[in-house]
Amino acid sequence: MTEEKSVDMGLHGETIAARGGWSRALGTVPSTPPIYQTTAFDLEGIEQLDAIIAGQQRGYTYTRDGNPNQDAFAADVAQLEGAERGMVAASGMGGLSAVLLGMLRSGDHVLAADMLYGRTGQLLTEMQQRFGIAVTLVDPQRPEDWKRAVTPKTRLAIVESVSNPLTEVCDVAALVAAVGSVPLLVDNTFATPSLYRPIADGAALVWHSGSKYLNGHGDVMLGVVVGRRELVKKASSALSMFGLNSNPFECWMASRGLRTLGLRMKRVSETAFEIAGKLQGHAAVSRVFYPGLETQMSHSLAKRMLTNGFGGMLSFELHTGEEGVKRLFRLLAEAIPFSPTLADARTTVSYPAGTSHRFLPEAQRLAHGIGPGLVRLSIGLEDSRDLWREIEGALSPL
Ligand SMILES: Cc1ncc(COP(=O)(O)O)c(C=O)c1O
Repeated sequence: MTEEKSVDMGLHGETIAARGGWSRALGTVPSTPPIYQTTAFDLEGIEQLDAIIAGQQRGYTYTRDGNPNQDAFAADVAQLEGAERGMVAASGMGGLSAVLLGMLRSGDHVLAADMLYGRTGQLLTEMQQRFGIAVTLVDPQRPEDWKRAVTPKTRLAIVESVSNPLTEVCDVAALVAAVGSVPLLVDNTFATPSLYRPIADGAALVWHSGSKYLNGHGDVMLGVVVGRRELVKKASSALSMFGLNSNPFECWMASRGLRTLGLRMKRVSETAFEIAGKLQGHAAVSRVFYPGLETQMSHSLAKRMLTNGFGGMLSFELHTGEEGVKRLFRLLAEAIPFSPTLADARTTVSYPAGTSHRFLPEAQRLAHGIGPGLVRLSIGLEDSRDLWREIEGALSPL
């Protein structure tokens, strides 16, 4: 039923169209949050503008600087991670850029894990070459090396809780102790707060590609950073200055996806565990990487840290190298698409050497176990029996 509105006969068509018919007198509150698809917010006057900017009054001014849908998603993730504050960016990389731009200046030093998501590594290299930020790469399995690498100019340390693509888990508490007063930023994209909460182990900041599990349906690009209030504030300020903001609709979508995070992570962890075990026994497969397998280098750490499940990501290597991968992708295509993302509701495969880690020098890729026969599998919500039948069927001719 629409509300009866008085019609102002004096208005022209363009005026009516421009103003729209939205009524402020809804009378009741919607059961799900509305989408605040607006560039700006109407203000009562300059006094209100000043009060909002000074933080003395709740409210919004301009969507690049803040929007209720951004805040709703950021607040949910912050609460899930046990953080003081959060912010949302246009993509995972946008979130990391905001942190780097907000916290660093030329001459500063950053410590980073020697194997990170390829674009993270590439961004750090750019920062080093073009903006004079020194970067030291360190093995995340050796906290003592991190301790030795800290200098008086070290401002930030970066690691992935579960690494992309080999799913090795690192000891976040030990790294926090090793770097001392240097804030540790943990990329928790693969684990999600359903499986692991880095802040409980002392991390200062947690970063996610919100395009992945938090949303979980393969249909948004977002990034989230949560953590200590003063650090997130610095990143937020860079985010609005450099225009790295997210849009309200995608935040709304991700808030909706987040409602089922726990259920999805439980399901993908169970299925991935089963599929990883079966892959290990297949003749076409030379090696499987999954935190839940006893053969995984960091398995004992994973058992201690990922107490709700080992996650939905796994990688495996084919004896037949790149040619085998090409054939496998062709055979799987109908059922399990080759898609350069992860954490969709459906299972997807990817090729780290050609997608996520494409921009790393080949020697660095090979040194870290990302060979031409490596396939990354992102387990979805399908029935595991169907999945294994499809995977086994595609592996058998190889
Ligand atoms: C572990 C990890 N971190 C960060 C990112 C970057 O996120 P986005 O693609 O949303 O920019 C990705 C993207 O695949 C990722 O896998």
